[in-house]
Amino acid sequence: GLPPRVRIHEVGARDGLQNEKTVVPTEVKAEFIHRLAGAGLTTIEATSFVHPKWVPQLADAEQLFPQLGDIPGVALPVLVPNERGLERATALGARRIAVFGSATETFAQRNLNRGVDESLAMFEPVVAKARADKIHVRGYLSMCFGDPWEGPVPVHQVVRVAKQLLDLGCDELSLGDTIGVATPGHVQSLLAELNEEGVPTSAIGVHFHDTYGQALANTFAALQHGVSTVDASAGGLGGCPYAKSATGNLATEDLVWMLDGLGIETGVDLGRLTATSVWMAGQLGRPSPSRTVRALSHK
Ligand code: HMG
Ligand code: MG
Repeated sequence: GLPPRVRIHEVGARDGLQNEKTVVPTEVKAEFIHRLAGAGLTTIEATSFVHPKWVPQLADAEQLFPQLGDIPGVALPVLVPNERGLERATALGARRIAVFGSATETFAQRNLNRGVDESLAMFEPVVAKARADKIHVRGYLSMCFGDPWEGPVPVHQVVRVAKQLLDLGCDELSLGDTIGVATPGHVQSLLAELNEEGVPTSAIGVHFHDTYGQALANTFAALQHGVSTVDASAGGLGGCPYAKSATGNLATEDLVWMLDGLGIETGVDLGRLTATSVWMAGQLGRPSPSRTVRALSHK
């Protein structure tokens, strides 16, 4: 059956803004995150402590993170690729981090400047140190269904890296359909194979992109499998700068519309969330691609 409650892992401020050409001022990012919290989101990915040349849009992490303060009841995870990133994040008091691996060699090289196994080796001390400090660790896994350079990605290849990320000590896994090519049957096959190989559904989150209009169908397939952590981006912001054709994360509003209809609790106020995305679209100078944002804001 379907889960009674879904935890939405909001990625708009990180995955969304990292892919916008416009570099948003730090104060606007801080206001965005506070508004997302005001709309009821409880896990809001804030920024990345990566090399500023690789993602200039998030180069202000040191300025932004302290501006967020402690928002009661809200977790503010940040992306950390290596020990340098961990040091920067923990110096500012970050309590949740995410490492980000790839199921494919090509994307690992393009995103992290090293292959799959070398990137896992880079994450190992990061996860170990974080865990020793009781910092929660998410492990992203990109290109779980298809890769723009390598084509379809075999399920066993994804399962291998997924297990390695969990073996390092990640508390949860986020399965990324970075280029949005997944379809519901493929999602079910991957989830079944992960379970078969000993990965519990409770450790799994899903991260869909709406490139082919399949993100909600894929989410529903994952919910039917028992998944209750779903990544989404307010207003459908962003994609990934190192993945050709990675358009549009699943919009949080589209997700909440579906979950509300299913009677699945999220704690999110759709009206406040939509108003936030309309405001952010104004800041970026272009309309939100989310159908739900458009429908609700033109009423
Ligand atoms: P590298 O060039 O191999 O790094 O990059 P290095 O270890 O050789 O170090 C080179 C220099 O960078 C050194 O400085 C380091 O100190 C510095 P120098 O001594 O030459 O002056 N450096 C850093 N500076 C600041 N912060 C750091 C850091 N690390 C090293 N953390 C690296 C390797 C991992 C750093 C680089 O490739 C990088 O930053 N990559 C991140 C790219 C990124 O953020 N991509 C987007 C992530 S989104 C994603 O993956 C998909 C996801 O959204 C899910 C989905 O949608 O599917 C999660
Ligand atoms: Mg994404």
